[in-house]
Amino acid sequence: MKFVALSGSHRTDSESSKVAHWLIDHLKGKGHEGSVIDLGKADIPLWSTDAWDQDSELSAFMKPFLKQVDEADALILVSPEWAGMVPGALKNFLLYVSGHVAAYKPTLIVGVSSGRGGIYPVNELRVSSYKNTRLSFIPDNLIVQVCETVMNDHDMDGANADDKEIKKRSAHVLNVLVAYAKALKPMREENDLIHPDYPFGV
Ligand SMILES: Cc1cc2nc3c(=O)[nH]c(=O)nc-3n(C[C@H](O)[C@H](O)[C@H](O)COP(=O)(O)O)c2cc1C
Repeated sequence: MKFVALSGSHRTDSESSKVAHWLIDHLKGKGHEGSVIDLGKADIPLWSTDAWDQDSELSAFMKPFLKQVDEADALILVSPEWAGMVPGALKNFLLYVSGHVAAYKPTLIVGVSSGRGGIYPVNELRVSSYKNTRLSFIPDNLIVQVCETVMNDHDMDGANADDKEIKKRSAHVLNVLVAYAKALKPMREENDLIHPDYPFGV
């Protein structure tokens, strides 16, 4: 199976990027393919109506990113908690994902916090980010707390109790995501789920 993780932090060396890479590297270790789109490095412009013009510079710029999403069997959205919110870069990226590229793909949400937060971005994404994207959020999510002290390597014994627990939980939740990826791939391939008259989920 093929996975893409979106790291939603604007910061160039973010903890969210570290977590996204940890999750993708873990999946690769289990024989899957994967890549990370790091929104702290990708420098993606704010969405504009040029995105609706296939010949625009903006569409050409976005093409490789959207191709990555299109080719994925499942997605992982990693969002830091910033002022109790999802950073604008991640919401901006999701505006481009409208249409079919991510439709009905199982998606894991991961909240990241340097403290004991991380739930707000999970809730925000679940409430507001699936209508046009048709992302299919799986019931499980991950909350990576005290993020600087965890997931800094792949030793499953853990550097401390938090590290051991989040690695164990991550491995389990990724197993769940793989199961959804396998189950929903034929569902998308065998059914005509995209109707041109109904592009917007309502
Ligand atoms: C603008 C800003 C706002 C933040 N607000 C919160 C917050 O509301 N709750 C929280 O737990 N952490 C907050 N943090 C700390 C992040 O949890 C911390 O930076 C962590 O490393 C995840 O962000 P990163 O992926 O950008 O590294 C905030 C950080 C920034 C830069």
